[in-house]
Amino acid sequence: MNSSPSQHILIVDDEAPHLKALCDTLTAHGYATTGFTSARAALAALRKKPCFDLLLTDLMMPEVDGITLLRSALEIDPLLVAVVMTGHGSIDTAVAAMKQGAVDYIAKPFRMSTVLPVISRALATRRLRQENEKLQQSLRARTIELEAANKELETFSYSVSHDLRAPLRAVGGYVQLLIEGLGDRLDDESRVCADHVNVSLARMNTLIDDLLRLARTTRAEMNCAPVDLSAMAHDIVQKLQGEQPSRAVDWIIAPGLATHGDPGLLQVALSNLLTNAWKYSSRLAQSRIEFGQQSQADAPPAFFVRDNGAGFDMKYAHRLFGPFQRLHSEREFPGTGVGLATVQRIIHKHGGRIWAQAAPDQGATFFFTLPPAESP
Ligand SMILES: Nc1ncnc2c1ncn2[C@@H]1O[C@H](COP(=O)(O)OP(=O)(O)O)[C@@H](O)[C@H]1O
Ligand SMILES: [Mg+2]
Repeated sequence: MNSSPSQHILIVDDEAPHLKALCDTLTAHGYATTGFTSARAALAALRKKPCFDLLLTDLMMPEVDGITLLRSALEIDPLLVAVVMTGHGSIDTAVAAMKQGAVDYIAKPFRMSTVLPVISRALATRRLRQENEKLQQSLRARTIELEAANKELETFSYSVSHDLRAPLRAVGGYVQLLIEGLGDRLDDESRVCADHVNVSLARMNTLIDDLLRLARTTRAEMNCAPVDLSAMAHDIVQKLQGEQPSRAVDWIIAPGLATHGDPGLLQVALSNLLTNAWKYSSRLAQSRIEFGQQSQADAPPAFFVRDNGAGFDMKYAHRLFGPFQRLHSEREFPGTGVGLATVQRIIHKHGGRIWAQAAPDQGATFFFTLPPAESP
């Protein structure tokens, strides 16, 4: 006996005795069966209530043949599985039926011992199709959710940039008006207060810029191309050094470092890592900052950015890549704590990994992997 009696087989055969024998035997094996001697009647039943799991049909029938029936049945229920019965040793019609979507065929005359395994295999296919459809449905639902969340994020970024920036500009403007209006009457204490307001405003503006960059990174579409990372690093370093020419830094940039990725996003990532190395080693009379590549035991080589600066305690390393997480105080080193969160998203978008190694006052190394340069 079959263990899942609820599985429903639609049987179509224009030879009534043959149809009855099939229905009886399959019912005896625990299947629910419904038989028709005409394809039209079978289709009408399927249209009325598409509750069948399997269509078992003869191919040679008057009026509507098995292949036409098969095509129409699959249009009504695309997850239906069909097995055809071919007569007269004709393999060609079986092949034609398989091309139209039948999952298997049985050559007439047959014994029930041949039919039963075919039926059970076909029903297993039906279950797989149903599972697959369920997965596809939940995937579609998740995609819709994700799109909604992205839209929300977009709206959020928009309101952050417009709604928050406008009042900030107003505060800055009014402080300026106050200072100018008071002129000589502005005492030193008030001037210090006004300076504090301006510093806080500048910080808030940076925070908004960083937040927007983080949001944009998540949404950004990747436009990948070969990227010369060594050249990119040289450009970034030149800019940093140009802003503070008096700082003594030994820059060691390995030549020929390359990858295949989104140049804009990779520029943001590398710039964040090198700027961090520059910032967190700024207390030293002589800093040493290195950008290179290192082989790994069981993995592709990793790029790294290393400095000999303030470092940090590895016990807090798990917080590094969370937005707004900082391991140093604003007084020690200014920052918003959004940079590494942005870098991590960019590396993950490229299918890579990022991690760090450091010790307090011993410097820090940030390792990351990226696709090989020759990727398509
Ligand atoms: N090269 C580095 N050396 C020491 N600490 C670092 C380094 N890079 C990042 N960090 C630590 O990780 C935190 C997060 O970095 P990041 O997201 O770039 O934010 P920010 O630089 O704005 O503080 C920093 O506040 C700092 O404590
Ligand atoms: Mg930073």
